[in-house]
Amino acid sequence: VTMKLVAAAFGLSLLVAGLWVGLSLTSNSDGGGKPGGGGGGGGGRGCFLPPLPKEDVSLCRNLEVFYMEMGNISCKVVPKCNQYRRKIMTWQSPIVKFHGALDGAQYLLVMVDPDAPSRSNPRMKYWRHWVVSNITGTDMKSGSIRGNIITDYQPPTPPPTTGLHRYQFFVYLQGDRDISIPESENENRGAWKLDKFLQQYGLQDPDTSTQFMTQFDGELPPDFGSINDGQDQPDQR
Ligand SMILES: *[C@@H]1O[C@H](CO)[C@@H](O)[C@H](O)[C@H]1NC(C)=O
Ligand SMILES: *[C@@H]1O[C@H](CO)[C@@H](O)[C@H](O)[C@H]1NC(C)=O
Repeated sequence: VTMKLVAAAFGLSLLVAGLWVGLSLTSNSDGGGKPGGGGGGGGGRGCFLPPLPKEDVSLCRNLEVFYMEMGNISCKVVPKCNQYRRKIMTWQSPIVKFHGALDGAQYLLVMVDPDAPSRSNPRMKYWRHWVVSNITGTDMKSGSIRGNIITDYQPPTPPPTTGLHRYQFFVYLQGDRDISIPESENENRGAWKLDKFLQQYGLQDPDTSTQFMTQFDGELPPDFGSINDGQDQPDQR
C-alpha cells in the first residue's frame, strides 16, 4: 500500500510539474502575460489581453465589447496568442453592451477604424465598419445589437505591415431622428466623414464609447482582397 501511495504521489507531482511548465510556456509565448488574465473571463488560459496603452484610453467608458471565445476586449489589445488576431477577421459582429442604456430610449451605434490604412498615414479615415440605428434601450443593455442596419458589420481587417489599428465604438442617444446614409456614400466604407454625418443629425458627444486595437497577423486569407475592399495597400512611407 505504501509503495502504491508513494508511486501515486510521485506521479501526481510529475503531473503538477508538467502542468506548471506547460502553463509558463504558453503564458510566456505572448510576451509575459499572466495565465488566465484578461479580467472577466476573457482571453482563455495563458492568453492575456493586454490593456490599451495609456495614451489610448480616453475613449474608454462603460461600453463593453465581447467577441466569441475571446470575451471582453473593451479597452484591450487583441493578442497574437490563440490566433485571436486572425480569428477576429472572421468572427461575426460582437455583443456591444451599454449597462447605462435607458429603457424606452433609442440608440445609434457606430464602429469605425480611424487608422485606415495605417495610423501613421490615415488617408482613408474613417473606415466605416458598422452602423446600426433604432436600437432599443433594452437591446443596448443586453448587448444584442438589432435595429435598422445602415452599414453591415465588417470585421477588423488591418492590412499587413500597417501596425496596430484602433477600432472605435460610439453609442449616441438617437431620439426620434431618422438616420440614414445616402446609397452612393454607403457603397464605400473608406474616407467616411463621420464628423459631417454627426453634424447633419445634430449629434454631439456620444453617450458612451470604447475602443480596442488589433493588427494583421500571419498569411493572407484566401478572400483577403475582397473582404478588405481596397484597404490592402501596404503602408509605403
Ligand atoms: C470589460 O472591460 C472593461 C474595460 O477593461 C471593464 O471596464 C468592464 O468592467 C469589463 N466588463 C466585464 C463584464 O468584464
Ligand atoms: C427609426 O426610428 C425613426 C425615429 O423614431 C423612425 O422615424 C424610423 O421610421 C425608424 N426606422 C425604422 C426602419 O424602423
